[in-house]
Amino acid sequence: MTDRATTHAIGMEAATPPLSNRHFRGQVVEAEEIAPRIWVHGYRLPEVARRAQPGQFVHLRLNDGTAPLLRRPFSVLDVYPGDGVARILFKVVGTGTQILAGKRPGDDIDVLAPLGSAFQVPENVRRLTLAGGGIGMVPLYFLAKELTAARPGIELDYWFGARSAEEVYLLEDLRQWCKRVEAVTEDGSAGRKGRLPDYAQEWRGADMIATCGPIPMLRAIQATTADWPVPVHAALESFMGCGLGACLGCVLDTVDGFERVCTEGPVFDLRRLNLEVPA
Ligand SMILES: Cc1cc2nc3c(=O)[nH]c(=O)nc-3n(C[C@H](O)[C@H](O)[C@H](O)COP(=O)(O)OP(=O)(O)OC[C@H]3O[C@@H](n4cnc5c(N)ncnc54)[C@H](O)[C@@H]3O)c2cc1C
Ligand code: FES
Repeated sequence: MTDRATTHAIGMEAATPPLSNRHFRGQVVEAEEIAPRIWVHGYRLPEVARRAQPGQFVHLRLNDGTAPLLRRPFSVLDVYPGDGVARILFKVVGTGTQILAGKRPGDDIDVLAPLGSAFQVPENVRRLTLAGGGIGMVPLYFLAKELTAARPGIELDYWFGARSAEEVYLLEDLRQWCKRVEAVTEDGSAGRKGRLPDYAQEWRGADMIATCGPIPMLRAIQATTADWPVPVHAALESFMGCGLGACLGCVLDTVDGFERVCTEGPVFDLRRLNLEVPA
């Protein structure tokens, strides 16, 4: 991927002042469909670009009217603090993401961000396996990029699970940062055939596992790694209302009772989660 310093020229005038310390208005500076129904957007949001950490998300207002009424959450893909730009990657799945895909450079956006918890990688981790299923690759992309810059010498293995080849993207970026990049597709059209958890035994030897993806995938990884002597952290998705901890619309069952994905999460110790209860 190119140096974004030259591509985020739109909206370089001072951004609109923040509405609160987590409510901002900015502009779209990049909108590219990188694969069918998969979009990367860059937003001029200097404060978010400065503060966001891997695992955190933005809660986007998509319409001035009532449809959709609720904001939509998206993980941060990466940030360019020098440009004041934060990026997301999203898949068009319904009304809100369809509206978002229609936005173009120069359009205004309204976000609550950065929200939620971030991945914490202990200093003694020398080898980290990142396992992202589908759109779950997003926070792990950010983590791989940030760790490469902050921790020279850390060894990263990146496993990207998808249905088919057309849902595998950004591998060239990942290869810059990771010692090993493996694609796993359900139909075998790219990389290895199967589902990510089928290959989890190959992650043995890592000092830590970081993962994100659909609940069945997380459940399988939880079962496989249950007695491994290393931390296994997961970024969760759930349906969200407020995004700020107030509505309890996003709760998830844990060993300590219900916790909010938007506030205590989205990054959790995977072993603390009861994934048998529907989120
Ligand atoms: C913390 C967090 C981070 C996320 N990060 C990303 C990201 O980086 N990129 C991305 O593309 N999406 C991400 N999502 C999911 C994204 O928020 C939803 O895809 C989006 O809200 C769908 O809005 P919509 O109006 O287009 O779809 P809707 O019309 O609301 O729903 C369309 C379909 O998608 C399903 N769906 C909607 N939201 C979710 C959800 N949260 N989990 C599972 N299924 C859902 C619905 O059941 C329905 O079948 C994230 C969600 C959370 C909670
Ligand atoms: S979305 Fe409202 S509490 Fe999490």
